[in-house]
Amino acid sequence: MPNIKKENDLYIPSGDLQEKAWQNDKAIYQKASDDPIKFWEELAKELFWFKGWEETFKAQNESLNSQPYFEWFKGGKINITSNIFEKNPLGFDKIKNKIAFTWIGEPTEEKPRTFTYEELFREVNRFANALKNLGVKKGDRVAIYLPVIPEVIIAMLATARIGAVHSVVFSAFSSAALQARLQDAQAKILITADGYYRRGKVINLKQSADEGIKETEVEKIIVVKRAGNEIAFQPSQDLWWHELTEKESPECAPEIMDSEDLFFILYTSGSTGKPKGTIHACGGYAVQAKFTGKWIFDWKENDIFWSTADIGWITGHTYSCYSPLLNAATFIIFEGSIDWPNPERWASIIEQYKVSIFYTAPTAIRMFEKYGADLIKGYKFETLRLLGSVGEPIDNGAWQWYFQEVGHGNCPIVDTWWQTETGGILISSLPGIGPFKPSFTGVPFPGIKFDILDEAGKSVQANKEGNLVILSPFNPGLLRGIYKNPEKYFDTYWSKYGKNVYFTSDSAFKDENGLIRIVGRVDDVLKVAGHRFTTGELENIICLHPDFIEAAVVGKADEIKGEVPIVFAVSLVDKGLDDLKKGVVDQIRKEIGPIASPQAVYIVEDLPKTRSGKIMRRILKKILTGEDLGDLSTLANPQIVEKIQEIVQADIKNEA
Ligand code: PRX
Repeated sequence: MPNIKKENDLYIPSGDLQEKAWQNDKAIYQKASDDPIKFWEELAKELFWFKGWEETFKAQNESLNSQPYFEWFKGGKINITSNIFEKNPLGFDKIKNKIAFTWIGEPTEEKPRTFTYEELFREVNRFANALKNLGVKKGDRVAIYLPVIPEVIIAMLATARIGAVHSVVFSAFSSAALQARLQDAQAKILITADGYYRRGKVINLKQSADEGIKETEVEKIIVVKRAGNEIAFQPSQDLWWHELTEKESPECAPEIMDSEDLFFILYTSGSTGKPKGTIHACGGYAVQAKFTGKWIFDWKENDIFWSTADIGWITGHTYSCYSPLLNAATFIIFEGSIDWPNPERWASIIEQYKVSIFYTAPTAIRMFEKYGADLIKGYKFETLRLLGSVGEPIDNGAWQWYFQEVGHGNCPIVDTWWQTETGGILISSLPGIGPFKPSFTGVPFPGIKFDILDEAGKSVQANKEGNLVILSPFNPGLLRGIYKNPEKYFDTYWSKYGKNVYFTSDSAFKDENGLIRIVGRVDDVLKVAGHRFTTGELENIICLHPDFIEAAVVGKADEIKGEVPIVFAVSLVDKGLDDLKKGVVDQIRKEIGPIASPQAVYIVEDLPKTRSGKIMRRILKKILTGEDLGDLSTLANPQIVEKIQEIVQADIKNEA
């Protein structure tokens, strides 16, 4: 019997998958919405707490200015690693011999590394003891700048074990991006690797780490020997991971944390060029991570889950680390590019490792699609039973391709909406309940109250677009602040509709069945291959370069990456156009990394501006798409528009 059936434009779970799913009764939605606080409280009780909480949910009084504006399970004492290991509610004895994860390196000839729950626990404790011996204490920030290797998970869990705060920095970020994050978090310890493999090349990560720690408070660098490449090693500052942990005891008592204690910081793009550190709390994050993963990915005893996201992003934190581990699930982590050394590497991993649940981003799906279905003809994908998508809207075409060519028409697709800020998935139909509709993310997770508001704060009708917001009591894993920047926290999330309404900065609409479709961001965030950048951040970075006095960045639709940045820069320097363009690209690569590289750079005399000096990015966008520019009479410099149009058109002609 098929696992999914089609009814009009909806796909409904059926058969075995529906019957055996952790959640297959619609009544859960009513129950949760009748009393969301009680709903989360009951779930929280399924975790291990050293001491119960005093108040399940506390909303701050609107007149109070103290942050955060809400709290969950306050007074409850917890450690997430105890819930994964020794106090796992499933019984540690029952899970200790189960495989937690298998790591696959990029070189195809390399042997995978596998950790059972017990082996992982021992390694976590060893490293936790090593950190303690270096003087790391509860609340201290530990920066982790590692590729996807087992040590990234061990380092995160060890930090959590001793109550320190991890700040993981994506390994493809440049040294300048690392430096900004180290400075903000005031980390004294940095964990990195000698190098790692990327598309067949060894990347010297230690070199970036050495540059990144300049003018920071970092005292010690712990280095994992991964690629064996030659590195600069300063014995007074650098420590090899293997030497450090060798003699440590495999036992380490957990630090007892308050539910609202700071758990981790994860930086995301900020509009001024300075990254903002979203902060997450111990208890609420654990509860939400556990149950969103359990119900949305429906992990069972024999499932093998693979999420292709890097652990340096929130998707990796929650669904390649904490959530599957809290559920004693088995998963895969992969160091390399999913299309290297051949475009079907991802398919061969699914087949070889018997992946049953596959989670990736629309950009990857569109890339698979471009390579063509012929390429994967030889793959049967018989083990797959559930597919997932994350990070950006998935269009109907990519959805259908994923559904037919990878899922063979028999796997539901959970299109999961969430943000670095939300800590875990908040919108996705559940695989045992549905319904699924291509290009719609689905219905909110039980217990989460969303609304779609107009500018005045009024709910809009079905099929009308508006601002997506989360209503009280929000979700237990929602961020509790921006590290050391209370104004930004307030301004970004709580100023538009008041402190009882979390503003997501996404635009969305609901259909008549209550399914939500995400339209896109309403702020200056670009989603480039699912990665998040702000146009303001890129503009600031360009203007830090002495050759440029002004810049405007706009997003342009891209067939594969969803969106790509296009730069318009003004320079007064007498240099060749190619040199100037290269200057912009190099500057972005230096300050952020290659993932933010613009697709095109236009050197222009001036930017279209209003009389008050506001740059009209809207007009630049229209120039790129060839749309009618409308009325330009409000511009202070309408003559510049034609000149920019000529530059862009010449470039397009050249390309063709
Ligand atoms: O615009 C939404 C988009 O990604 C934003 C959050 O980005 P980030 O913090 O990098 O987290 C991405 C991974 C959780 C959102 O505001 N987004 C995320 N998931 C989806 C999505 N847009 C459409 N559909 C999704 N499933």
